Amino acid sequence: MEIPSILYTLSTLETTRLTLRAFDTADASAISALANDRDIAQNLATLPHPYLPEMAMEWLATLPDLHSGKTHRIWAITLKGTQLIGAIGLHDVSHEHSNAELGYWLGKEYWGKGFATEAARAVVEYGLGEMSLERVYAKHFARNPQSGRVLAKIGMQHEGVLRRHFCKWGEFQDCVIYGIVQGEL
Ligand SMILES: CC(C)(COP(=O)(O)OP(=O)(O)OC[C@H]1O[C@@H](n2cnc3c(N)ncnc32)[C@H](O)[C@@H]1OP(=O)(O)O)[C@@H](O)C(=O)NCCC(=O)NCCS
Repeated sequence: MEIPSILYTLSTLETTRLTLRAFDTADASAISALANDRDIAQNLATLPHPYLPEMAMEWLATLPDLHSGKTHRIWAITLKGTQLIGAIGLHDVSHEHSNAELGYWLGKEYWGKGFATEAARAVVEYGLGEMSLERVYAKHFARNPQSGRVLAKIGMQHEGVLRRHFCKWGEFQDCVIYGIVQGEL
């Protein structure tokens, strides 16, 4: 597939240990190597399994439209500009309602080190700060409490449970919703 190597422009975000940057076509095989994991896919509403490099390339090809339409901001999570360890984004950005949904995943070998919390804090700060959103929210499957811990640690509030909100691999999943609004950071 012919897609340009510079896919979209996005502010790079720096944290103590991480650089959050725009994805590049060269990331396709690393994305697949990290995300081709049933333990990741089972906790994400839309990620298929298996997840092959050509599927990552197809996803990368969607990013220019998502960014030019200003409906998404999607960052590669890297260890200070070196290797890719995951992805994080603000999805379904609503300019009418001034809100967006936070979502993320990390390769399994990077779990339990506080990286998701560090990345999520930077992206929420960007959403409520530079983007001036009124609200950022996130949903996680009830069977995935570690994601709830990430959201609680960055100051998001538990707002409720959406019963049987998603159907993943033929099974309905309850989703826990967290949110944060202007003035709460
Ligand atoms: C969810 C995910 C991003 C967390 O990444 P991470 O870098 O390990 O997260 P952090 O280290 O920042 O924080 C994880 C927290 O969950 C806690 N935790 C781990 N397993 C847990 C469990 N079974 N129950 C409750 N908390 C748990 C950890 O102890 C830690 O909290 P603490 O700092 O208070 O001890 C990662 O597991 C992942 O990519 N999972 C697959 C995709 C996914 O679920 N994405 C989110 C969809 S909403």
